[in-house]
Amino acid sequence: MKHFHMLLAVISVSFFTLRFFWLIKSPQLLDKKWVKISPHIIDTLLLAIGVVMAVKLAINPLEYLWLAEKIMAIVAYIFTGMYTLKYARNLKMQIFGYIGAMGWIILVFKIAHTKQTFFF
Ligand code: HEM
Repeated sequence: MKHFHMLLAVISVSFFTLRFFWLIKSPQLLDKKWVKISPHIIDTLLLAIGVVMAVKLAINPLEYLWLAEKIMAIVAYIFTGMYTLKYARNLKMQIFGYIGAMGWIILVFKIAHTKQTFFF
């Protein structure tokens, strides 16, 4: 289950990066139905498996602060990702958003791996 979770995490970030390049080079590709739908399926599975693992391993975010911080970093990643692909109005803002999203996701991977908080 953990390996499937990790695989989905890599696919999710790779696909976000691909969509970022399409946004800049060939934005019409972002309008394709499968490009719009598949990130929702991948991300829902990724998050759902994370929640199932946390429940099975009895890792409560109120008790294990690393999980609380990981969830907050995921929320920040989702918002910066949405900003990059939907709301950023020019190339500078899109690049700025992408770098921000990458910063958050690196933090997510670091916390997932070390199980240590970074900010708390
Ligand atoms: C963008 C979303 C996510 C990413 C990129 C991500 C990434 C990862 C990675 C890379 C690992 C393996 C760490 C290692 O052993 O080296 C992992 C494990 C885990 N993740 Fe996630 N995760 C995400 C979402 C979630 C969510 C939403 C939850 C729960 C609310 C969660 C709970 C867990 C748990 C419980 C483990 C296993 C910890 C253990 O080894 O005992 N993850 N995650």
